[in-house]
Amino acid sequence: MKMVVTAGPTREPIDPVRFISNRSSGKMGYAVARAALRHGHDVVLISGPVCIAPPEGAKVVRVETAIQMMNAVMEHLQWCDALVMAAAVADWRPAQAASSKIKKRAGDLVLKLERNPDILAAVRGGKGGRTVVGFAAETHNLLLEAKRKLELKGLDLVVANNVLESGSGFDVDTNKVTLIDACGEIVDLPLMTKDDVAERIVEWIERRRRISRGGKFAGSGTSP
Ligand code: PMT
Repeated sequence: MKMVVTAGPTREPIDPVRFISNRSSGKMGYAVARAALRHGHDVVLISGPVCIAPPEGAKVVRVETAIQMMNAVMEHLQWCDALVMAAAVADWRPAQAASSKIKKRAGDLVLKLERNPDILAAVRGGKGGRTVVGFAAETHNLLLEAKRKLELKGLDLVVANNVLESGSGFDVDTNKVTLIDACGEIVDLPLMTKDDVAERIVEWIERRRRISRGGKFAGSGTSP
């Protein structure tokens, strides 16, 4: 398989020295890339700014902003069989990035933010036979919100991620996720390392593609 994996945060510039971002470390996405490589797949890893060594054997494309990440995903989409969007893409960006450092002055600074494009929504139209996996990072109503994203973004699988639970979510080595597929099958995984979660995701994609090549898809079979 040829796989595109996104990882890490995006940074949306306010001026040349400041940006808006989030707490993603890239650990989850890099774990997916490593698992895919272990399984013998070709991997393009589209990475926001992180401090992790690139996995050997992956083609790494470094980006900063959501728009750069979207352009990179669109460029490599044609090439791939499966896309895994583990990146935490900023939903908003400053409407105008100042070209020089904004000087400190008395009083408040009001920033106007505008919406970034939704990368998965943009992928939806050109998805074809590709397998598309998204994540849902949630603090409440986990399954409801994850299912909403599965449908809204036309995903084959959503990895519902409770980011408030201890040992789960941003910048830790473990994760607690529930896999929900487009057929409605739900697999609640226990707290496990991000490498083990990644293994489950890659196995799910392989099974999904094997079954659809055979002409039918009878659920994920990803029982923990
Ligand atoms: O990087 P780590 O520190 O290891 O943390 C892992 C993680 C918490 C970042 C990861 O497990 C995770 O949940 N990633 C998705 C984070 C996110 O942006 O979730 P969301 O619910 O806001 O977005 C839903 C999906 O749409 C995601 O697949 C996201 O990549 C995608 N998206 C979001 C915004 C946007 N503009 N375009 C998108 O395609």
